[in-house]
Amino acid sequence: MGVRMEHGNPNSVEEFVEVEKQFLINVYRRQPVVLEYGWGARVVDINGKEYIDLVAGIAVNSIGHAHPTVVEAICNQAKKLIHTSNLYYTRPQINLAIKLKELTGMDRFFFCNSGTEAVEGALKFARKVTGKKNFIAFSGSFHGRSMGALSVTFPEKYRNPFLPLLEGVEFVEFNNPDNIISKINRDTAGIVVELVQGEGGVNVAEKDFVKALIDVRNDYDCLLIVDEVQTGFGRTGRWFAKDHFALKPDIITMAKAMGGGIPIGGIGVTEEVARVLTPGDHASTFGGNPFACSASLATIKVIEEEKLVEKAKVDGEYFMKSLKKLPVNEVRGLGMMIGVDVNNASEVVNEALKRGLLVNNTSNNTLRLVPPLVITRDEIDKAVEILGDIITGQ
Ligand SMILES: Cc1ncc(COP(=O)(O)O)c(C=O)c1O
Repeated sequence: MGVRMEHGNPNSVEEFVEVEKQFLINVYRRQPVVLEYGWGARVVDINGKEYIDLVAGIAVNSIGHAHPTVVEAICNQAKKLIHTSNLYYTRPQINLAIKLKELTGMDRFFFCNSGTEAVEGALKFARKVTGKKNFIAFSGSFHGRSMGALSVTFPEKYRNPFLPLLEGVEFVEFNNPDNIISKINRDTAGIVVELVQGEGGVNVAEKDFVKALIDVRNDYDCLLIVDEVQTGFGRTGRWFAKDHFALKPDIITMAKAMGGGIPIGGIGVTEEVARVLTPGDHASTFGGNPFACSASLATIKVIEEEKLVEKAKVDGEYFMKSLKKLPVNEVRGLGMMIGVDVNNASEVVNEALKRGLLVNNTSNNTLRLVPPLVITRDEIDKAVEILGDIITGQ
């Protein structure tokens, strides 16, 4: 096949696959495509083939690829100061915290580099603040793969190879308000929940379930940790999924769309939680560096200027309505976070790639559609047409 390893410069998809086998650790299942550049909701591979992107880097590229506002902001920041550590103050970090307070209603913030790290920190904060040790999480949950975050992640196939994990985690059926009470106890530090489960197959929390969460939180004096890593920054048609429920959690976690593709995560807490935390309780060398924070500020500016939260709501409804006309098992979701149940999701994903559409599936035959929020109506129509053709065998 002639893989030119000595140059470190593979040229065909086959060569990339071969190089991956030799040089990368085999933990990802990748599609056979090498992406080179993109704009808006489009990406182009090394052969010049164009794709409509319904994956958006797994709900990250909400403002689309190569948005000029973010490109300019990060270029300007890179020329000034990329990193300083948290031994010093920088303008972008402070400005981001002030902006997030306005957007989330949470009081104070900690910055990290990913969703997993945000969840990990949230679990630590909950233990320190409550002095308790147990957690409640839910069937279908996904919160990351570090030892703490993995402990509250539901699928056994992810957890079992790494046991023992955190003690005292109980999984309760998602959307079943009666079940929480049976598992909660006086040593419960926190309840960790996604209000729209992403990896679990796009399951939207019901109002009575959320009410039950609030009730038990109040009765048992534990913390409610809402994981907004995937749902945050407009994805569901509100700035944060908690806003659909007028919910005020004790802690929220965020990441993914927060930096327009530059790695950044965050934890937002109430003043009561923040008050208990002291230097040394948690830290991150890279977390909140000026480069990542300026990317996040520019991303938020784009979301505001282009009214992408409202667009996610309106165009998400349009998208779902069109999908419901297809012969699929179920369409559900909130805003631009849409799950489509089909009979053989991985085959649909593979065929879609051939037809110029990037789609992703969760383990339970659900297509998870989380496109850039800037996707156009024409692109939505085209995506529905391609999916329809595949599903009806055309
Ligand atoms: C709800 C939720 N929490 C946490 C994570 C972990 O985030 P990351 O992959 O950035 O570590 C994810 C990732 O898919 C997620 O969807």
